Amino acid sequence: MNPAPLAAPEQIRVGIIGLGYVGLPLAVEFGRQLPTLGFDINAARIAELQAGRDHTREVGAAELASAAQLRYSADAAALAGCNVYIVTVPTPIDAAKRPDFTPLLAASRSVGRHLTRGDVVVFESTVYPGATEEVCIPVLEQESGLVYNVDFYAGYSPERINPGDHSRRLPDIVKITSGSAPAAADFVDALYRRIIRAGTHKASSIRVAEAAKVIENTQRDLNIALINELAQIFCKLGLDTQEVLQAAATKWNFLGFRPGLVGGHCIGVDPYYLTHKAQEIGHHPEVILAGRRINDGMGAHVAQRVMRLMTRRRIALVDARVLVLGLTFKENCPDLRNTRVVDVIAELRSYGIAVDVFDPCGDAAQARAEYGLDLLPGLPRDGGYDAIVLAVAHREFAELGAARLRACGRAGAVLFDVKSLLPREDVDERL
Ligand SMILES: NC(=O)c1ccc[n+]([C@@H]2O[C@H](COP(=O)([O-])OP(=O)(O)OC[C@H]3O[C@@H](n4cnc5c(N)ncnc54)[C@H](O)[C@@H]3O)[C@@H](O)[C@H]2O)c1
Repeated sequence: MNPAPLAAPEQIRVGIIGLGYVGLPLAVEFGRQLPTLGFDINAARIAELQAGRDHTREVGAAELASAAQLRYSADAAALAGCNVYIVTVPTPIDAAKRPDFTPLLAASRSVGRHLTRGDVVVFESTVYPGATEEVCIPVLEQESGLVYNVDFYAGYSPERINPGDHSRRLPDIVKITSGSAPAAADFVDALYRRIIRAGTHKASSIRVAEAAKVIENTQRDLNIALINELAQIFCKLGLDTQEVLQAAATKWNFLGFRPGLVGGHCIGVDPYYLTHKAQEIGHHPEVILAGRRINDGMGAHVAQRVMRLMTRRRIALVDARVLVLGLTFKENCPDLRNTRVVDVIAELRSYGIAVDVFDPCGDAAQARAEYGLDLLPGLPRDGGYDAIVLAVAHREFAELGAARLRACGRAGAVLFDVKSLLPREDVDERL
C-alpha cells in the first residue's frame, strides 16, 4: 500500500495529550494559530484552564485567553478529528528507579484509538533512545490497526523549557525535531517552526533526538554532582565552596555549576532512563550512577552539617526545633514533585528534631498529599527555632533578608544557607 499522505497545513488539527508544565505552553502556542484540543485526564486541571487559570504559573491569564483556537477536555473522545497528536505526559521512575511508562502507554492507547490514515504522533516526553519506537509505536499500531510509516507517522521533539524561567520561554528555545520518515521529519519540523521563533534543529532520527534530550539533563546532573562532591571535600577542608568557585570561574573555560539539592522530575530522574537502557544492552554506567548517588545524598549531607553546627553550639538535637524555608524543588516555582528538601527534613527528624516548613510558593494541599507535610501558613516571628535551613532560593526570601529570617529563631539559632542566597557574613554556613 502507498504511504498515506500527510495533512496539508490548512488541514492540521492538533491534539495535545497532557497539559502540565510542558503541554500547556505548547497548547497555547498552537492554539493561537491552529485548531487545538488540549486533553488531560485530570478533570480539575481542565476545569482551572477552562476558568482561565494556570496554577503552574507558566502561562498568564492574558496568554491563555490569546489562544483563541484552543479548547480543553478531560474526555479522550474529544481527540476525534485531530490529525497531529503531541504527547506531553510524565515519564517518572518507579521505587527501584526504573522507567515507569504507565502514563506514556495510557496516552498512546488514547491516541491509538483515534488514529486515522495520514496522522502524525509526536512525543515530547523525555525517554531513552529507542523508547518511542519500542514502547509507544506498538501500542499505537495495536489500538488503531494501522501500520507504522505506512498509515501513520511519528516524531519526537524534546521539550527544553525551564519552569519558572520567564526570560527563556518555549518560542525562544531552539527545538530539536525528528520524524519516522523523511517526509514526516519535514512535516514535524515545519509544524514547530510555526511557533518557535528561535528556530529548529532537525535531527537525523527519532533516536538521535531522544538521546540528545536525555544527555542534556544527564550532563547537567553530573556537572552538579561534581560540584556537590567538591562541596563535601571543601567542607572537610574548612573551605567555603562559593569562594573557591568564584576564584575558579575567572578562568575562561571553567563551568559555572553550583552545589545544591537535585530534585524535580527532570534532572534527578532522566539519567535513570539512560542508565536503564545502558544496562539493558550490557553496559554498566559508572560515572552517571556515581553522580546520581552523590546528588541523592545531598539532603542528608545538608542535615548533617546543620546538626553539627547545632551541636557545637550546645543545642541538644532531641526535641530541638528546626525551620526549613522552601520545599519546592527549585526557586520561584510551585512544583513540589521529587523535591529533595524532604531528604533534609527526614534526616533531621531521624535524630528526634521537630521540623516545620514554610514555603511561599508551594501548594499546601500538595505538600500534605505527597509528603504528609503541613506547611506553616506564614513566616513565623519569634518562632523560637534552634536552627533555620534556607533550602530554596525563592525571591521572597532574598527580599526578606537575613535579619527577618533570623527573627524566626531564638537568639543564637543556626542559619544554614543551602543555595548561598544571602551574603556569607549573614549566615552561619552555606553549602
Ligand atoms: N517540566 C519540565 O521542566 C520539563 C522540561 C522538559 C521536558 N519535560 C518532560 O516532559 C514530560 C512532561 O512533563 P511535565 O513537567 O509537563 O509533567 P506534568 O506532570 O506537569 O504534566 C503532565 C500532565 O499530563 C497529564 N497526564 C498524565 N497521564 C495522562 C494521560 N494518559 N492522558 C492525558 N493526560 C495525562 C497529567 O494529568 C498532567 O497534567 C516529561 O517527560 C518530562 O520529563 C519536562
